[in-house]
Amino acid sequence: MQIIGTVSEMQRLADSFRIQGKKIGVVLTMGYLHAGHVSLIGTARKVSDVVITTIFVNPTQFGPGEDFERYPRDFERDKTLASEAGTDILFCPQRDEMYAPNFATYVEIEDVSKILEGKFRPTHFRGVTTVVAKLLNITKPHVAVFGQKDAQQAFLIRKMATDLNFDVSIVVAPIIREPDGLALSSRNVYLNPDERQRATSLYKSLKRAEMLIGKGERSAEKLHNEIKKILLGVNPTLVDYIACVHPDNFKEVETLTPPTVLVALAVRFGSTRLIDNMIMNVA
Ligand code: PAF
Repeated sequence: MQIIGTVSEMQRLADSFRIQGKKIGVVLTMGYLHAGHVSLIGTARKVSDVVITTIFVNPTQFGPGEDFERYPRDFERDKTLASEAGTDILFCPQRDEMYAPNFATYVEIEDVSKILEGKFRPTHFRGVTTVVAKLLNITKPHVAVFGQKDAQQAFLIRKMATDLNFDVSIVVAPIIREPDGLALSSRNVYLNPDERQRATSLYKSLKRAEMLIGKGERSAEKLHNEIKKILLGVNPTLVDYIACVHPDNFKEVETLTPPTVLVALAVRFGSTRLIDNMIMNVA
């Protein structure tokens, strides 16, 4: 695995792969890799000749008072995991090069970046879509793989790629979970043992909603109440939102209609904010 630290070197390398007719797959990360990232790299490996993994803790997607400073970092461990997962090139740019002092251009998607996560983190998606646009321009991939865990992010990145004619195909890979259902996230490391145990309520509540839908429940309000009951049963610090949305446009639905609904949650345990979601069949 080759480690690249500068934008110009990465762009030159990407050009040379393209000239050789190689298909480039990219996985963009903020590091502190876990089995979820490993599975994204595995997906990229299957559909590409060259896999680039990027590590960059992007300051513009953290709001004031959020966890940018304490976001977990472990470059040595990341190097091993990225290499073992099948990464050919590890791109780790410096903050100053990604955001020069006179940086002033942002990519902002209307509507969907302002709801759900966007309501609680008003500048978050602007930071995400901006850095993703930059990293796609730097790594020049044919395929970029993102995780379904950040469902709204994946939706917005696909929207940006379509709206701005990025010549890349966006692949969204399934959520990887712990044996007890907790969705893998670099932020799970913040949870103390008691919070970690209570955090399984997110998955439990989603499974309960799935079961009720299977039995014929079509009211988003009733599902919302059932999910809330399970979440409040473990005394979270705050439930930011519970939402039933149409997976194709992220608009909230009142009555579920076939073929699917996406149920999304954000819950806080202490200072740790967890998100999870599930796409459920509506027959
Ligand atoms: O999902 C993430 O880790 C980040 O939001 C991303 C896509 C790497 C952009 O910084």
